[in-house]
Amino acid sequence: MDMTISQVDPAFKKDVLHCFEQQSYAIPARWLYDRRGSELFEEITELSEYYPTRTETQLLESYSAEVAEISGAGRAVIEFGSGSSVKTPHVLRAVQPAAYVPIDISGEFLAASAAQLQTEFPELPIYPLEADFMRRLNLPDEVSGMPKLGFFPGSTIGNMIARTSVDLLRFMRETLGTGSQLLIGFDRIKDADILVDAYDDSAGVTAQFSLNLLHRINRELCGNIPVDQFRHIAVWNDLYARIEIYLEALSDVRFAIDNSRFTMTEGQKIHIENSHKYGLRDARLMLRAGGWSPVREWSDEKNYFSLVLAEAHPFKNAP
Ligand code: TRP
Repeated sequence: MDMTISQVDPAFKKDVLHCFEQQSYAIPARWLYDRRGSELFEEITELSEYYPTRTETQLLESYSAEVAEISGAGRAVIEFGSGSSVKTPHVLRAVQPAAYVPIDISGEFLAASAAQLQTEFPELPIYPLEADFMRRLNLPDEVSGMPKLGFFPGSTIGNMIARTSVDLLRFMRETLGTGSQLLIGFDRIKDADILVDAYDDSAGVTAQFSLNLLHRINRELCGNIPVDQFRHIAVWNDLYARIEIYLEALSDVRFAIDNSRFTMTEGQKIHIENSHKYGLRDARLMLRAGGWSPVREWSDEKNYFSLVLAEAHPFKNAP
């Protein structure tokens, strides 16, 4: 695939050059998801070691009806970071929404998945919104009078540090309004071996997914990083309760990106992702810090993953 300069996102170039020029050795995780990266991530979700997608989907299949009982029919369902919207049908079928607003930063993905859902739910008004949900949003006018149910699956909140998660929850509360509800997925703290295996599978798909970031830099930013001189590593940081993903240099390496030269020494690591895990009380506290009161929780029998339904109660003066 030939990538002409005009198709390269300037923000990608900026983040990558910053990583090596400022020697921060960190690249935001969103750049993992080019076309190839998105395909590889789909493969990850089907791996036996990668339990989150499977477990959350089963929870949605089992408990969407209970969500519907609490939420009531006629809400506008607002999904943050809808991607391919694969988990959404379970929720939409149960809650009988008045409208559906999928929000995603990738307009291409958004249009395709909205069209797909429309064939499955021909009567449902769908208003796709191409936007960065990490900022305050204006929802389409069509849903302004409707009560809202936010949907934020995938433990995507886990990919943010605590203060960013709280900022996002507060934005969501402002966007959805008092009286709205939020159905959100949290990946739970569990045995470190299980967590590490989920992020470093035996078939090496996750390693390919991580290393694709270096291939992407080479492809789109005229780079010559020797990708075979890097390896993917996943480590459990117990203090921060998170999996950290790095690309580690296996030897001293020299390379160029966009006509700038860089070196890294053996053992030096580029940080490319955090995936925070939560105890139930952590999840509840995180929600409350963002202005959301937990209403009900559902977990699988191993407590690998939890869905929490929360509500934006009116703010009251604390004693
Ligand atoms: N957000 C996903 C998660 O934290 C993405 C993910 C899965 C991921 N495996 C990865 C990101 C490996 C980087 C590297 O579960």
